[in-house]
Amino acid sequence: MPRALTVIGNWKMYKTSREAADYVEQLAPLIEGCTIRVFLAVPFTSIAVVAIAAKPTVIQIGAQNMNDAREGAFTGEIAALMLKEAGAAFVLLGHSERRRVFGETDEFIHRKVLRALSDDLIAVLCVGEALPERESGQTEEVLKRQIETALGGVPKEEAEKLILAYEPVWAIGTGKSATPKLAAKAHRLCREYLAGLFGKRKAGQIPILYGGSVKPGNVEELVSEKDIDGVLVGGASLDSQALADIINHCEKVQ
Ligand code: PGA
Repeated sequence: MPRALTVIGNWKMYKTSREAADYVEQLAPLIEGCTIRVFLAVPFTSIAVVAIAAKPTVIQIGAQNMNDAREGAFTGEIAALMLKEAGAAFVLLGHSERRRVFGETDEFIHRKVLRALSDDLIAVLCVGEALPERESGQTEEVLKRQIETALGGVPKEEAEKLILAYEPVWAIGTGKSATPKLAAKAHRLCREYLAGLFGKRKAGQIPILYGGSVKPGNVEELVSEKDIDGVLVGGASLDSQALADIINHCEKVQ
């Protein structure tokens, strides 16, 4: 059976809702008929508008963050149910910018994962080591801790609503992507830690995406690795033609 590749665009804090709706209109015809999974993680303010624009297309819309509480006095926060009702199908959790700039801990991310799954969102957990951690030989330890803390205690039957994204921090926004071999090796480690939590069979079904300076020019060699089930794209996803090129390259490999 062929792998079902997944491409996620992460816009970060870019695009107003008007720009977002235009983007979906431009992207849709460029990827018509594609069979891979296409997700767009957009700013909160664009979710509802873009979810409507994306309805007749293969594109699924999601958020870039959420709070772990069901509801409450948390000024400025957003709950999973609010995202769901606005039209989100998934949420990114534990992105390195959330961890580093906003001080999110593995424990907080764990609570968010549980909440997202119980409120029926696909949880895209982002993990990855920083450069000093890689250089001091801590990559395995960091990935193991991030995965086991965030996903420990997730019921086995919920594993099918999980996606993992391996995003080495040194590759994000730097233009220096990991080599396909290096990424594939990290993916195999991640798969092993997932198998420890969910068993080999279920772990084998959780897509593991690579993220960090993915572009139309390097995506094909990345997803040609059998351990890389797709990509999470930041900067290049801001341009609809570039994201369409990435999606169409994946379509060829799949
Ligand atoms: P990048 O970002 O593609 O711009 O490196 C990836 C990400 O932050 O998810």
